[in-house]
Order: sequence, then structure tokens, then C-alpha cells
Amino acid sequence: MPRFPDVSKHAHSVSARVYSGLEQRALAKNEQIYRLHVGDTYRDPVAAARAEHQLSAEHPGLHKYAPVHGEPSLIDAFIANVQRRHGETLNPDLVQVMSGATAGLSIVCQVLLEPGDEVLLPSPFWPLSRGIIATKGAVPVQVPFYTRFDEPGFDAEAVLESAVTERTAALYINTPNNPSGRVLPDATIGAMMRVAKRHDLWVLCDEAYEEIYFDREPPDAVWRRADTRDRAIAFHTLSKTYGFAGARVGFTHGPEDVMDAIRGMQTFHTYCAPRPMQFGAVGALHYGDAWVEDSRSLYRDAGYEAADALGVGRPEGGTFLFIDVSEQLDPGASDCSAFLERCADAGVLLTPGQSCGADYAKWVRLCFTSVPPDQLAAALGKLTPLFRTSIA
Ligand SMILES: Cc1ncc(COP(=O)(O)O)c(C=O)c1O
Repeated sequence: MPRFPDVSKHAHSVSARVYSGLEQRALAKNEQIYRLHVGDTYRDPVAAARAEHQLSAEHPGLHKYAPVHGEPSLIDAFIANVQRRHGETLNPDLVQVMSGATAGLSIVCQVLLEPGDEVLLPSPFWPLSRGIIATKGAVPVQVPFYTRFDEPGFDAEAVLESAVTERTAALYINTPNNPSGRVLPDATIGAMMRVAKRHDLWVLCDEAYEEIYFDREPPDAVWRRADTRDRAIAFHTLSKTYGFAGARVGFTHGPEDVMDAIRGMQTFHTYCAPRPMQFGAVGALHYGDAWVEDSRSLYRDAGYEAADALGVGRPEGGTFLFIDVSEQLDPGASDCSAFLERCADAGVLLTPGQSCGADYAKWVRLCFTSVPPDQLAAALGKLTPLFRTSIA
């Protein structure tokens, strides 16, 4: 029972230090350091989206509360964007503007989950997803997944099925995936959906990287599938597609029965997403097409360059490489902390794989979009000798 000065047990289950504290070490030894552990972009958003272009003269009451539902012009712009990409017109009543996908997932988990409920969390995963589920008193059930498609005999349906219990309430799915860079094949999504249907699970579709895919057709939108849509809640964000992470704007939509409750819960969490940046988001959606195209090609080049330099498979989408470094670890090492220290000593910060799943203690994550191409090349120059050297 939490009593002063203790905090709740849900708060104990998460840590604000999702990412490693290696920065001081890197700064002590290097004039220039490369923060490839942060999932962000070096690109500024399109001009019409930027904070400095949102004017009170054009938007009376610019700094007042927005409607809980979201600014009507933004909802219209999002619906037009989805219509253009997928040929489908969403019902505006079923769309909720939120402060990014983080708030979206958090609020939806609050609506759907009781303490003790379990959520299937295929790993490796976006580090915050685990904590968001845990802060509701629910249990993130980690299932090693995205790194295993090439294993002979890997059976996506059987692997997920074996993790289901009476308490399983939802399945979280993220494609293109942070951190593996994989885009889920259609057959794999079908297998996942059979498990969801068989056990009456909600499907939480994280679309954060929906527009970041390389040398391929746009990935299937999981939430649109006939076998999914009655149970799918989708999270979209401008953070990745439009370089808008600090603006905190995204969209959640789902079936009619649940959207009222989600809107109600949003009222008591953030009330509304930042109003000035909702107008910025309208600018991104109206004028950002060429920017998104350019980013896709710049990010592809960066991702391929990083993968080739480090001798690992090229990403299919997203902004990360996820790399097994077990051969670079000291004999007997149980995790990659010493390896990450060597990288920090060389001036490059990477994320420990463990923050993306308990089974990935010997993996690291690298974001290839957080610094401009010249800095990425310099960072890769420092990392290459560390990655190419096998210790064992
Ligand atoms: C898979 C995934 N979902 C959601 C988010 C967070 O999105 P937002 O900035 O909209 O909260 C991230 C950020 O890295 C992510 O990688």
C-alpha cells in the first residue's frame, strides 16, 4: 500500500532512464559526440509547419485550449491524407487528435486494460511501449519476434499463441518496426490476426513509421485489414513522417464502441494536443508531401550506408538498425554495457538492446537519422573498427 514517502508499485515498475547514461563518458573523451541513441531526425519540418509560422493574426485565440476532439481543420487534413494514401474516408467522429502516439497508446491502454491484464508485446519493441503498459498495472508479455523471421521453422502464430493466457487482453503491433527495421510480411500479419481473433484481443496498431519504407510499396496498414478492423485501434503521429516530434501531434482512431471512452479519457489526461502545433500539423499535412519523399530517400541512403558500413542487413523501413553484437563482447559478458562504453569512448552513443526487450541484452540499437549525413559518416568511421572486430 503506497503511503508517504513511497510511490505506487506501477511507478516502481518503470524508470525515467530508458536510455543509457553514457553521455558524460563520451563527453569526457571527445570534443564531438554523435547521439545515435535518440530516435529523431536532423531535418527541420517544412516551413508551414514550424512553430514560428503559427500566427495569432491568422488563428484567433492561438494559445487557448483546442477542442478535446482536435482542431476541425486538422481532422479534415488527416482524413484527406488517409483518403489519398489508402482510398478510405474515415468518419471524423472516430478520429481523436492526441499529443503524439505516446499519449495515444497511454490513453488507450488506460481505457482497455485492467491491472493484471496482459498485453502481447512482440520484441524487440519501441522502449516506451513496455513502460506505458506497465504504468497501467498491466503486464507486457515480451515475445521475441521481429528478429526471428529468417529462422528455419519460425511459426509466428505458434509463437504468439504459446504466450496467450486467460489474462491476455491485447496485442501490440508495430510495422515498420522500431528497432528492427523490419516490415511485417502480409502472411505474418495474418498469423498474428488469427491469434487476436481466436482469443478476442484488441489489436494496438502503432503506425509511427507508416511513411518510412525503402525500395518497396507502402506497407499494408494493419488497421485496414478485413480480419482486423473490428478490433484495431491505430496510432498515427507526425513525429517521424514530418520531423515534428517536439510538436506532440498525432491521431488515434478505432471502432465506434470504444472511441467515446477514449475521448473521455483524453479529457482527463492532456485535455487537448497543443493548439499552435495543431495548426502547424495542418501545414505539414498540406505542404509536406515533397518533404516526406525527400526524407524517405535521404533516410534510405543513410540506413543503407550504416548497414553496409557495419556489415549488417539493410533496413526495410523505420529509422534504426538493431544489431547483434554478441561476437564483439568480452568472453563471459552477460550484456553489452562494456561494448557501449567502448562506443562512447569513441564518441558514439547507442541504445542498449535490452531497452527493446529482455532477450536482447547482447544487441544494440542505432538511429541513422538523428544526425546529418556527414556526421553519420564520421560516426560510422568510429564505429566500424569496433563492430568489425570479433573478440571471441
Ligand atoms: C514505434 C513508435 N511508436 C511511437 C513513438 C512515439 O511517437 P510520438 O512522438 O508521436 O509520441 C515512437 C517514437 O520513437 C516509436 O518509435
